[in-house]
Amino acid sequence: MKFFIDTANIEEIKTANELGILSGVTTNPSLVAKEGVSFHDRLREITDVVSESVSAEVIAEDAEGMISEGKELAAIAPNITVKVPMTLEGLKAVKALSDLNIKTNVTLIFNANQALLAARAGASYVSPFLGRLDDIGQDGMTLVSTISEIFEKHDIHSEIIAASIRHPLHVIDAALNGAHIATIPFKVLEQLVKHPLTDQGIEKFLADWNKQN
Ligand code: E4P
Repeated sequence: MKFFIDTANIEEIKTANELGILSGVTTNPSLVAKEGVSFHDRLREITDVVSESVSAEVIAEDAEGMISEGKELAAIAPNITVKVPMTLEGLKAVKALSDLNIKTNVTLIFNANQALLAARAGASYVSPFLGRLDDIGQDGMTLVSTISEIFEKHDIHSEIIAASIRHPLHVIDAALNGAHIATIPFKVLEQLVKHPLTDQGIEKFLADWNKQN
């Protein structure tokens, strides 16, 4: 399973990139709004740092608008993936954009039929939102596993991005359940690195070293 970072914050993206673990970035309108910067300028900054997939979401709700926004976003850099919401209009846009060889990430997926439809429309990526399903008392991880099973059974090559990740256990379970990618907030990335026994171990090694030197 690969790691994407789920943020529009350029410092977080640079830090994650320096760790050598980053295979892409996902943004969404809420994450961009938090930054208070121009969307296109920020995408230029991000694509200067990261050469792999950078998802940028369309705002239009009709297929025509999504296609035209998608083309504009894709023109910013060759590694932009156009993020499209899972609607009837969204599916039309995914088909049109993928016919133009523009990569798409279908977002806001909450059941396996939505994932199958997105894949058949030509989505490069499908994004089931685990955390938001967990929030309403449903099991987000079962969805990842079901999508993975269906895609394998039917030889579907759209990649599954486990999205709306809230904590480290989501990451392990997403990997075990067949997600190709987990897109994680920076805070969760920091949590993945940490273990109290690692910190204690470093402290003890240094204390012992200092006794002898
Ligand atoms: C990623 O593509 C999604 O936009 C993101 O993971 C949503 O996460 P949230 O449910 O924490 O907003």
